[in-house]
Amino acid sequence: MNRERSLSPSATPDQHRPDAPVTESSNPSLSSPSVSIPGLEGVAYGGDYNPEQWPREVWREDVRLMREAGVNMVSIGMWSWAKLEPREGEFDTEWLDELLDLLHGAGIRVDLATPTAAPPAWFFRTYPQARVVDREQRALGPGSRGMACPSSPDYRAACARITRMLGERYGSHPAVAMWHVHNEYGAPVGESFSSAAHEHFRAWVKTRYGSLEGVNEAWGTAFWGQTLARWDEVLPPIPTPSVANPSRELDWRRFSNQAILECYLAERDILHELSPGIPVTTNFMAHTCPNMDLWRWAREVDIVSNDHYLIASDPRNFVELAMDADLTRSLAGGDPWLLLEHSTSGVNWQERNVAKEPGEMARNSLSHLARGADGIMFFQWRASKKGAEKFHSAMLPHAGATSRVFREVCELGATLQDLAPVRGSRVRADIAILYDWESQWAQDLPWRPSADLGHRAQTQTWYERLWSDHLPTDFVHPEADLSGYRVVLAPASYLLTDAAAANLERFVHGGGQLVVGPFSGVVDECDGVRDGGLNAALAGLLGVAVEEFCPLRAEETARITTSAGEVLEAQVWTEGLVVRDAEVLGRYADGRLDEGAALTRAARGDGHAWYLASDLSVEDLRAVFTDVYAHAGLTVPELPADVELLERAEADGTRHLFAINHTGQSHELQVGAGQTLHVAAGAVAHLEVATSAPKA
Ligand code: GLA
Repeated sequence: MNRERSLSPSATPDQHRPDAPVTESSNPSLSSPSVSIPGLEGVAYGGDYNPEQWPREVWREDVRLMREAGVNMVSIGMWSWAKLEPREGEFDTEWLDELLDLLHGAGIRVDLATPTAAPPAWFFRTYPQARVVDREQRALGPGSRGMACPSSPDYRAACARITRMLGERYGSHPAVAMWHVHNEYGAPVGESFSSAAHEHFRAWVKTRYGSLEGVNEAWGTAFWGQTLARWDEVLPPIPTPSVANPSRELDWRRFSNQAILECYLAERDILHELSPGIPVTTNFMAHTCPNMDLWRWAREVDIVSNDHYLIASDPRNFVELAMDADLTRSLAGGDPWLLLEHSTSGVNWQERNVAKEPGEMARNSLSHLARGADGIMFFQWRASKKGAEKFHSAMLPHAGATSRVFREVCELGATLQDLAPVRGSRVRADIAILYDWESQWAQDLPWRPSADLGHRAQTQTWYERLWSDHLPTDFVHPEADLSGYRVVLAPASYLLTDAAAANLERFVHGGGQLVVGPFSGVVDECDGVRDGGLNAALAGLLGVAVEEFCPLRAEETARITTSAGEVLEAQVWTEGLVVRDAEVLGRYADGRLDEGAALTRAARGDGHAWYLASDLSVEDLRAVFTDVYAHAGLTVPELPADVELLERAEADGTRHLFAINHTGQSHELQVGAGQTLHVAAGAVAHLEVATSAPKA
């Protein structure tokens, strides 16, 4: 029997890569990609809990209210280093023992953090050389948070000591269900220019290129006479009088990612050794922090987890939320993941921190759940009285347990308890978008043809077209297996390796529809333009060579007419193309490229390679993508605008449908077999569609 429920009672109706060897997990019991959290039955629900800010009477009140809200897991310890190790090598764990016992007694599982994102004052006093040094060569002081220099041996030793202490003491504590290493690697510290980092970078460059000749070749140092004659001339990209060498900058990004990843791996390995069977995660910021190459990180965690905060100034911020959630699920290889932080209402660090509307928190939470999250957690449980985040919303706000927010927190807790069967089910997509942090780093460096053609905006615009067409989407690394997809979009593949180009070719020949966006296939992994033109990596596959980039002036646009008679408008970018072996589907209709090709399609093997040489708005992309869907045999579901219908499926075929209504009207959705699903304004409805075989 099918079960239908509305899940947002408080939303008042009508109110409205794969290029490096994959490291095996160092914990053999966790080598399977799908890891559950020991002792946690349903969907994880809770948040960051910072009890060191409160006297112990408040802890008891917290636990009572957590139970009332349906909280079953909290993340603790992120900011506890100063309390746990008040003097170097001296530990005070009595308070944590009591807290863990208290939580355990209440049936609340613990996601125990290593506190290495906030070294204590004594650390900076004793090891001033371990401070982060910014690009302008300023050493950054204590009195805030953010790690020390990731290359510092002193910082690494101190991290290992506190992590080992925690692992030894709590590795088999019955309250501990998961380890939370550090907090949001990559922000606020994504790089450091200390003298230890100089040495570390030099060693990294040596390993990568082997010889100075190799470095000179890779970085193209013949340009502007930058030739390096000795290893001590290899420097990080400190400020320079004019623009710095872009190839070095790209390698610096790779190095910084690696230096920070090494810090994570060291802590993870200690925890795997001392706490077998307990999964280790670290909270990503998939779409919001571009510093880390999360394809590399994702294979090193036992469970992928993510933090997401709405962009308050964007009235359609639910689309970016969806993209972030789809990206996170893709990082998890399609396995369930955890939303480790989001906010119950406004944050405090944007320009105008808009409070969420009634029902919006539930809508956000269930949007993540419907996109594969098996846990919905917040920053933070109880609002802080002091410190930089006292105006950030919380599950238990300053206004207390009688507030609207706390009421909605309790309602969401009850809803998630009911949704326990959804846990473990998976989302399926026929379309994938290529996503590559290395390409993003390279594309967004200075001195490009146009500063207004950015990786993020291009990718998000293409994603939003798919979102508006109600088509589920994954993200993939350009070298990943694409055989499960009918359509692959490459909105921003400026940097493409030979292996990626060959992968795309295989995909098309095997019957796929590949759509490539402008300024793609331009450079190799050293940010060098390839021999053979401006898109040499893809020219053969696309049947089109890019002869010239012709970015537009601000306020200028260029019209494109399609063979179907539609008129589209390029916003920022046009390209002079030479069509060699492709059908022209759209031509510029004015400007310097008048009558030149702008949209092409090449038949290759059983598939097609499409090229769109301009940036188009979400609306104008419809004309292009509709044709692509038709070639891929995909149908755009008939659904109202801004109403999502998402599906997670269990292994036995049971389907969980989620209707998420971002509009101010209620809707009846046709969900197949003559069935309708009612979703109230601003609400979420869930329908469980059983398989014909009854569920055990
Ligand atoms: C990040 C951090 C949290 C908190 C929130 C506030 O996600 O991990 O500690 O600062 O931002 O939004």
